[in-house]
Amino acid sequence: MEVVIVQDAKAGGELIAEAIADLLRRKPDALLGVATGSTPLPVYEALTAKVRAGAVDVSRARIAQLDEYVGLPAGHPESYRSTVLRQVVEPLGLDRGAFLGPDGTAEDVQAACEAYDRALAEAGGVDLQILGIGTDGHIGFNEPCSSLASRTRIKTLTEQTRIDNARFFDGRLDQVPHHVITQGIGTILEARHLVLLATGEGKADAVAATVEGPVAALVPASALQLHPHATVVVDEAAASKL
Ligand code: GLP
Repeated sequence: MEVVIVQDAKAGGELIAEAIADLLRRKPDALLGVATGSTPLPVYEALTAKVRAGAVDVSRARIAQLDEYVGLPAGHPESYRSTVLRQVVEPLGLDRGAFLGPDGTAEDVQAACEAYDRALAEAGGVDLQILGIGTDGHIGFNEPCSSLASRTRIKTLTEQTRIDNARFFDGRLDQVPHHVITQGIGTILEARHLVLLATGEGKADAVAATVEGPVAALVPASALQLHPHATVVVDEAAASKL
């Protein structure tokens, strides 16, 4: 695992956007796995700026979602599908057809999860997966004690994660879904390159456990230690407990 300490979130975003641009120059139709949350926004902004400046061509890039809420109506502004469309697909000018995601509105959620794992494999697998990290060390929505071999499946959110995410629902905890679909840790580990970005002091404990702690289901992000090509980009605040 490679750990890169940058000064701030903007520098982290720039660094990762350049890694994505490099990948797309080598492989124009790369499948890019994207995470939601506040942390990766500087990555998407820096990449969008590069595209607008003509520094990289993303027209053949494909996007894959990491996770999704279960039960939010299609088109809900806080569904991760809507979020990724708004933050990544539209600013980059990509075709919606180049965007893969699990169906959080499916009646048969288990079948939707299996279909998503199949779709990722049929698309040739994720080339570069961007990850954030929860304050409890979760990646995607793989909460602590998730199997490190898990596949895409339904999960129940912990109270802490629902509280953390309530800010996206006008602070209304009762509006935050209890259930989600997430790529499993085993699924995530199949991406060719994992890039985790963590910024701010609130992530310092989770980062220390991920990088320096034992590989443990209690800290899902520690599974990155098992991956042959994992990069952890942290700002000085998030690195403060390393
Ligand atoms: C959610 C997402 C994760 C994300 C995490 C941290 O739980 N499912 O993919 O990493 O939030 O979000 P933030 O970056 O806003 O702290």
